[in-house]
Amino acid sequence: TENQQLFSLTAAFAVRLSGTKYGCGIGGCGACTVMISTYEPTSKKIMHYPANSCLLPICSLHSSAVTTVEGVGSTKTRVHPIQERLAKCHGSQCGFCTPGMVMSMYALLRNHPEPSMEQITAALDGNLCRCTGYRPIIDTYKSFTGVGRKTNRSPFSKVSTNFECSMHSGLCNPEEFQPVDPTQEFIFPPELMRMAQEQQKRTLVFRGERTTWISPTNLRELLELKAMYPKAPLIVGNTSVGLEMKRDGVHHPVFIHPTRIPDLHVVSNTNNGLVIGAACSLAQLRDILMKVVPELPEEKTKIFRALLQQLKTLAGEQIRSLASLGGHIVSRGSTWDLNPVLAVGNSVLSLASKDGTRQIPLNDQFLAGYENADLKPKEIIVSVFIPYSKKDDFVSAFRQAERRRNAVSVVNSGMRVLFKPNTDIIMDMNILYGGTGPITVSARKSCQRLIGRQWNEQMLDEACKLVLGEISLSPSAPGGKVEYRRTLLVSFLFKFYLEVLYGLNKMVSGFPLLVDNALPISVLSLGYHILIKQDVDPVQPPQDPVGRPIMHQSGVKHATGEAVYCNDIRAVDEELFLAVVTSSRAHAKIVTYYLNITPLPYTVTVHLYVLGVLQVICVGQIVCAVVAESAVQAKQGVEKMKIEYEDLEPILTIEDAIKHNSYFGKEKKIEQGNIEEGFKSADEIIEGEIHIGGQEHFYLETNSVLVVPRGEDNEMDVHVSTQDAARVQEFVALALDVQSSKIMCHTKRVGGAFGGKITKPAIFAVVAAVAANKTGRPIRFTLERDEDMLITGGRHPFFGKYKVGFTNDGRITAADIEPYINAGCTLDDSEMVIEYVVLKTDNAYKIPNLRIRGRACKTNLPSNTAFRGFGFPQSGLFTESWITTVATQTGLPQEKIREINMYKEVNLTPFKEELDATNLVKCWKECMEKSEYYSRKTAVEEFNKQNYWKKKGIAIIPMKFSVGFNATQYHQAAALVHIYTDGSVLVTHGGIELGQGIHTKMLQIASRELKVPLSYVHFCETSTITVPNAIVTAGSIGSDVNGKAVQNACQILRKRLEPIINKNPEGKWEDWITEAYDQSVSLSATGYFRGYMVNMNWDTGEGQAFPYFVFGAACSEVEIDCLTGDHKNIRTDIVMDACFSINPAVDIGQIEGAFVQGVGLYTMEEIKFSPEGEQYTLGPDTYKIPAVCDIPEQFRVYLLPNSRNPIAIYSAKGIGEAGLFLGCSVFFAIWDAVAAVRKERGLTGTFTLNSPLTIERIRMACADNFTEMVRLDDHNGLFWPWNL
Ligand SMILES: Cc1cc2nc3c(=O)[nH]c(=O)nc-3n(C[C@H](O)[C@H](O)[C@H](O)COP(=O)(O)OP(=O)(O)OC[C@H]3O[C@@H](n4cnc5c(N)ncnc54)[C@H](O)[C@@H]3O)c2cc1C
Ligand code: FES
Ligand code: FES
Repeated sequence: TENQQLFSLTAAFAVRLSGTKYGCGIGGCGACTVMISTYEPTSKKIMHYPANSCLLPICSLHSSAVTTVEGVGSTKTRVHPIQERLAKCHGSQCGFCTPGMVMSMYALLRNHPEPSMEQITAALDGNLCRCTGYRPIIDTYKSFTGVGRKTNRSPFSKVSTNFECSMHSGLCNPEEFQPVDPTQEFIFPPELMRMAQEQQKRTLVFRGERTTWISPTNLRELLELKAMYPKAPLIVGNTSVGLEMKRDGVHHPVFIHPTRIPDLHVVSNTNNGLVIGAACSLAQLRDILMKVVPELPEEKTKIFRALLQQLKTLAGEQIRSLASLGGHIVSRGSTWDLNPVLAVGNSVLSLASKDGTRQIPLNDQFLAGYENADLKPKEIIVSVFIPYSKKDDFVSAFRQAERRRNAVSVVNSGMRVLFKPNTDIIMDMNILYGGTGPITVSARKSCQRLIGRQWNEQMLDEACKLVLGEISLSPSAPGGKVEYRRTLLVSFLFKFYLEVLYGLNKMVSGFPLLVDNALPISVLSLGYHILIKQDVDPVQPPQDPVGRPIMHQSGVKHATGEAVYCNDIRAVDEELFLAVVTSSRAHAKIVTYYLNITPLPYTVTVHLYVLGVLQVICVGQIVCAVVAESAVQAKQGVEKMKIEYEDLEPILTIEDAIKHNSYFGKEKKIEQGNIEEGFKSADEIIEGEIHIGGQEHFYLETNSVLVVPRGEDNEMDVHVSTQDAARVQEFVALALDVQSSKIMCHTKRVGGAFGGKITKPAIFAVVAAVAANKTGRPIRFTLERDEDMLITGGRHPFFGKYKVGFTNDGRITAADIEPYINAGCTLDDSEMVIEYVVLKTDNAYKIPNLRIRGRACKTNLPSNTAFRGFGFPQSGLFTESWITTVATQTGLPQEKIREINMYKEVNLTPFKEELDATNLVKCWKECMEKSEYYSRKTAVEEFNKQNYWKKKGIAIIPMKFSVGFNATQYHQAAALVHIYTDGSVLVTHGGIELGQGIHTKMLQIASRELKVPLSYVHFCETSTITVPNAIVTAGSIGSDVNGKAVQNACQILRKRLEPIINKNPEGKWEDWITEAYDQSVSLSATGYFRGYMVNMNWDTGEGQAFPYFVFGAACSEVEIDCLTGDHKNIRTDIVMDACFSINPAVDIGQIEGAFVQGVGLYTMEEIKFSPEGEQYTLGPDTYKIPAVCDIPEQFRVYLLPNSRNPIAIYSAKGIGEAGLFLGCSVFFAIWDAVAAVRKERGLTGTFTLNSPLTIERIRMACADNFTEMVRLDDHNGLFWPWNL
């Protein structure tokens, strides 16, 4: 539609450059990053900046140059050093985030040929990656800094010397990097310069059917336009207006685009302060302030420094480059970070309209939108005056967000106090808070009352009470976290109090702290490195790639954007687009459906398919589908669809389900020893409960399917982003009532899956196939991020009850465990997940008397499904929690309790499977050693003695992870290998590329077995045509079992070739193949692996449940800010028993990526539902996965040396999932820090911390006077909470 043409760069690209990816559509993920270059005719400067193309109105780009990843480099021309290094350093896994990562770095390097690490991490703030854990990306980009010796290798600085690299990973060889070639960079097109010059004086008007875009050239014209169209937004960055249009469907008939007007870009330094044009971007403002601050006396720059502090962490670089100061001020989001600071700094807005100019203060009344303090409809902001601070002024800024960077604040604040000269008597004071309601608010009355007071503890105490009284936050306030937000109000105030005290140089004696303690935790200084302990056998032939860190088979294509994902498949003739209508109720009968008769704005061919749903059992359930000529039309059709419901009582939580006896399947139970006797022999018994939240998969590529009817015999091609093509085939065949042999499923690659694309894609494929069948036309169906998050469910939320008996010396004698998972509304994989929870609860511990009884709860939430680790991340954390509690109760160190109770040597699991724990103990000891646990623990304790408001914590956690499935048939695998007459080899197998590098490993195996160079072997796609009935790619065993099948096929072929080779041993591979062909020897073979034998008997609770175990240990150290709940991951050391890794780069990548995903699960990712069961967290704005800022400053991964796993191929181990659980070492390090806080505050005894340990939970657990103040002021529980 025309709105779409004006607005979406990605959708409007007729040129079909699909390298730029679409991950969220709201500026939150960075997958769509492009570089915009503009020419400024007056200054004759070319500017480059990164931008989120999903928010870029296409009209705003007139006379700009847009560089997409294809323009940076390609395999057809030349691959750019950024792309090449990212691929060679293993910086891509699924590759879906990779083009965005390349573009952010490219834009940075265009502006700063030799950036600092700080600039690099800032440039990547706005780019999310769900696979890699960022370490390899940072490592790659580090090679462009001046860090390390002889490292001048930026492509933009002309010097290119030795590539001696500061990277220590040993996983790539910087010597191999291509030399730098500055001539490769694109030149700003001269015709655009000419255009910019010529058009300087021409108004640009773009007219669509419903929308007009006007770009005036001078202020007078702008003001006339504004008078003519007072309601038209002035669109600059579109980061606020764009979101409203996308989210709320707001329509604007006219847009005024004022960015060509010089008055709006002015930057001038006056006697009293800075004047900044309203159209200056936030990135420009930051750069201006960074330049100005060091040039001015310190006392003048307090406001500027406070602004800078906010600007450095606000949003990502792409948004900072787009968003304008004027837009920021006028859109007045309650959590926008600059407004409170600008307001306390007494900034002034210069306004203009056709009727003249005037100035108004940017104060709380303006921010509240009071009519007499606001812009008039015909007025615009020309510039903003930000005054210098005075000598007796103190200005501070605070913000606390759910993620350290690229997340809007939960609460922010600007605070200012002015003292009577040379005293500590308050003359004036101003405090504004954002995030407490719909607008930024002022504690105006409180400040008034404090004027004349001295800056001391009594004043602070009263100030806290006044502020809490004045800034109201109802217990059911939207956004929840009410107690936490109220605590932040006073915690910030306290921080301000200390900062000012420090400034006044007037430490009050006897105050129990040092000022530095309350200052924010420093930002990351990234010093990652890892050490690898895998050398291949020196006698291994150099061409044999097994065991070597071979680059991902698609690495370069990821980085150039050439890798094709499902939705990148070119438009198919006559294709239609599908969108779905989903239930808005958790549990209800459908009374009627109807298509709202108001005419649609365009000619829309809408085909509506009601999918026979009479009752809905969760919000987000697909009810019917709409098919139309374009994706936008299909969505408009969805909006016109109305459903009337009759509500039924929903069950939402695990507690509700327990109460209503609402379960799937039977109780799963295992028991060993005699539990009653065990409790009798205990000195003490503790009981408790823990909640562990769910997790969104947040794969960067949303679910996507393209169904193409072949037109004969009911045949259909289904291109689908799935982990289980056979299931898709089976479901589609069933739905269409055709034989499976007619349905051909194809998956080239998947942009991340993590278990989330096992069961769900079949549903989407069925919906699309039904529509394709009805219309006889191809159907494309790609979910928006919010739909994907709404519909697909995630990791199961968990609730566990425990009763644990132990002796005073820390031996656990008995444990009675009851785990529950919230399965949601359908069975999906939940029965298997609860089985795994039960089977894996022991983790690394021998509990002599143990009973575990698990249930999967049936509720009215979207159906939860498989997720990396499959129940173990929950059950393992649960176990480690009660182990930690035993430590607290006995007063013994945590690591002692772990050591005492750990499996040693050969043992039996609670279900009587044999277990050799030798490597578990080795990993533990090696991790202790490598992390220097004891000396660092002492250092942590020392730090904690010195610091009251900041604490450090350290924890070391062991792991036993069982690989694979507890059913033999899930381990079978097949492969098909063809050798063509030119000697080239095509390998295919049942495994799907999810980013885990399975094809890379398969090619390595084929190369070794056939004894041909890797370059001879190719992989094309996974398809149900080539390998039938393949098992799902999951459970960490994809490479294991498919590897065996590929090996088998290659060995069969090699055997067939042997007589020919023996006859002509000196011949070349090609000669042998020609000869084989001539002798009519078949050059194609299928390989098969029957699978690992397992048998678990749930009636007896005994059996061989898993093929083998992976062991590991991780030690993490953190620092927390007790006043805000902020935390920093300082260092992590992981030792993993990966045995002989087929590809250490891939395996390390899996360990690191999974670990960071685990850090997300346990410390920040929080799914929120309304009390009616509606999911609130539906995008990167509300759901925070780890970003670059969240990984440990020092991150070391070691593979346990000299370990072998005889049952698997080449003695490898599947380690795709195991690392995730080790993320809980961060959780327990935080626990350790919180324990130190509580102990110091006199809160002895045990306590429970639920997962995720978010800023809110950390802060509230660090109980102190401030949390007490907030609790005292509490309500009586008589309210309707915002969230469940
Ligand atoms: C992904 C994302 C993350 C973000 N994170 C943060 C964050 O962490 N902290 C934070 O503070 N903010 C954050 N923001 C918000 C961001 O700061 C604002 O959206 C932005 O500053 C608005 O500027 P803009 O130029 O894009 O406004 P636009 O969307 O272009 O315009 C917004 C409004 O301002 C009006 N306007 C613009 N210029 C003028 C003018 N000169 N005179 C009169 N009216 C004018 C327009 O009419 C319109 O109504 C985030 C936004 C996004 C999309
Ligand atoms: S798609 Fe644009 S930022 Fe996510
Ligand atoms: S590689 Fe970054 S999201 Fe997959």
